[in-house]
Parts: sequence; structure tokens; C-alpha cells
Amino acid sequence: MQLLMMGPPGAGKGTQAAKLVKKFSIPQISTGDMFRVAVKEGTELGKQAKACMDAGKLVPDEVTIGIVRERLAKDDCKNGFILDGFPRTVEQADALEKILDELGKKLTRVLNIHVPAEDLIERAVGRRICKKCGATYHVKFNPPKADVCDSCGGELYQRADDNEATMKNRLAVYEASTRPLVEYYKKAGVYTEIDGRQPIDKVTEDLAQVLASLKD
Ligand code: AP5
Ligand code: MG
Ligand code: ZN
Repeated sequence: MQLLMMGPPGAGKGTQAAKLVKKFSIPQISTGDMFRVAVKEGTELGKQAKACMDAGKLVPDEVTIGIVRERLAKDDCKNGFILDGFPRTVEQADALEKILDELGKKLTRVLNIHVPAEDLIERAVGRRICKKCGATYHVKFNPPKADVCDSCGGELYQRADDNEATMKNRLAVYEASTRPLVEYYKKAGVYTEIDGRQPIDKVTEDLAQVLASLKD
């Protein structure tokens, strides 16, 4: 199953992808997570990505496409994968089509988590992430039982780009560069929209229902 999780910043792509990873045993490929690892490691890619991410801008297409091309060629993607946060531009979507062609695969479904703009800043600013295992929480909508990660006890942190000012830029970039992909994938006949304003578990249920009706 080759899935693509779409949606604006803070819509719940990562939260839902993590659940699908468990259900289908296929990897989640989040370009944002890959860039954050590179930033932590202080690589050249990390330095370039950090400047873009802190400003709420996109990392250049050629850089992003390159890392996805490499990642999709890995063995663990043979039985499928869940793309999260890629593609984000028409150029990236065209490149993805080529990469999948080369691998003899095609997208099974594009799942767009729809959440109105007014909810998204609160979701991002309240997000907390576990330093050890990457689990995602929200101070109001999905609070940890204590001040540490429920599943591993790890310390929780806030992403550098999860502040109101950067979020405004991220939302503007989404509208200008990524929203056109809705039409792009509608035309391709692989698009499904999910109501992301519901509680996390209800969104998961809706996704499961869509996926149950699909063939590989
Ligand atoms: P990336 O890491 O992909 O960030 P994003 O797209 O802005 O999305 P988020 O991770 O913020 O949100 P999400 O939808 O995963 O939400 P989550 O599940 O965590 O990208 C970061 C940056 O990297 C970009 O700005 C760019 O610079 C660069 N980049 C990445 N990919 C790129 C690409 N392809 N091209 C170029 N540059 C790229 O949920 C958010 C919060 O809400 C959490 O606290 C969660 O607990 C809560 N929540 C989730 N679901 C619900 C619900 N149903 N109800 C209430 N709360 C909920
Ligand atoms: Mg995410
Ligand atoms: Zn943890």
C-alpha cells in the first residue's frame, strides 16, 4: 500500500501516520522528520534545512526530492510506505510520479486531513514531542499523563517552528505551494478527504474505513 498523507501544518498527518505504521507494518516517510534528524546531526543538509524551517519556508525542491528518491529505494519500502509531508509542491508531485514509475509502483491513495486554518495555530503551539521515541502529544487535545512521555518516560520538547509567527508563514506557504495538490490528486482519481476536526481516534476510524475499502 503506497499512501500519501496530506494536510496543512498541524492537521494530524504525523499523528495518524504513526497509527497506520503499526496497523500495516510499513514505514512512515516524513521529510520534516528527516530534516530534523539532519539538523540535530549538524550535517550540510541540516544547516540548509534549518534556515528554511525556522523561517517557515520550504526546503528547495531539488534537495527534498533527492532525499525522498533515496529513501523510497530502501528495502523496507518494498511492501509500501506512508509519505507524510511530501510532496508539497507540484514539482515534487511530478518528481514523485517519476520515482514511483521507476520503482514500478503507484500511489494507492492520497489522504487529505482537512482542518480549517483557525484551528491549526493552536494545534502547533500546543504540540509536545518525546525526545526519545518521537511520540506526539498536545497540551490540551492529547495531554501526557505527567510531564514526560507516557510510553517511554522520555523528556518532552517543543519544535523550534511551533510558534505563532513561524506557523503563520507555514500556513501561507501551504496555501500558495501545497494546496494546488488537492486538484492535482483529484484529477488523478486517488484523492480522499478526511474530516480532521474530529477527535484523534475518530479520524483514525475514518481513515481505517477508507483503507478497508481499497485494494493494493
Ligand atoms: P513537517 O514536519 O512536515 O511539518 P508540517 O507539514 O508543518 O506538519 P506538522 O508536522 O506540523 O503537522 P502534522 O500534520 O504532522 O500534525 P501532528 O500530527 O504532529 O515540516 C516542517 C518543515 O520542514 C517545513 O516547514 C519545511 O521547512 C520542511 N519540509 C518538510 N517537508 C518538506 C517538503 N516536502 N518540501 C520542502 N520542505 C519541507 O499534530 C499536530 C498537533 O495537533 C499535535 O500536538 C497533535 O497531538 C494534535 N492533534 C493531532 N490530531 C488532532 C485532532 N484530531 N484533534 C486535536 N488535536 C490533534
Ligand atoms: Mg508532522
Ligand atoms: Zn517517548
